[in-house]
Amino acid sequence: MAEKPMNAPPHPIEQSFELAAQRCADLTPLVYQRLFEAHPETRTMFRAQGSELVKGSMLALTIEAILDFAGERCGHFRLIACEVASHDAYGTSRELFIAFFAIIRDTLRDLLGDEWTPDMARAWDALLVEIDTYAGIPA
Ligand code: HEM
Repeated sequence: MAEKPMNAPPHPIEQSFELAAQRCADLTPLVYQRLFEAHPETRTMFRAQGSELVKGSMLALTIEAILDFAGERCGHFRLIACEVASHDAYGTSRELFIAFFAIIRDTLRDLLGDEWTPDMARAWDALLVEIDTYAGIPA
């Protein structure tokens, strides 16, 4: 893939995470609160002990994969196809797996408030469609 020019404007997806980071040091509680409200069946899916670490790590790796998928595609994005298969094995349907990306988008949108731009909205809509297609292909 072509190298990004030095003066390229930041990708709206990247920008949405950067602005969120300025407002909130850790997205983990917000994302999982939203996930548990939208999909109550997920509350009991995480182990009773040590789940904070697992949840934090799952979110961090997912964000890394999103940024790579939206940007350079140097490899981290492949996690999405790998994990869709392993999650299927422990009871997370493909639909639910995919829903996690929209939960992240909605968390950012609410956090950004007035700073959420139409460019970000469009980039996220397109990304969610692309991820849906990508995750449908066996790894
Ligand atoms: C709503 C959707 C999802 C649910 C309910 C879910 C559920 C889980 C659960 C229960 C675990 C912990 C398994 C354990 O205790 O060992 C886990 C781990 C993990 N999940 Fe998810 N997951 C979802 C979406 C995703 C997505 C979209 C990704 C990345 C693309 C992902 C990546 C991971 C990774 C990498 C781990 C291992 C974390 C670690 O131990 O370091 N998950 N997931």
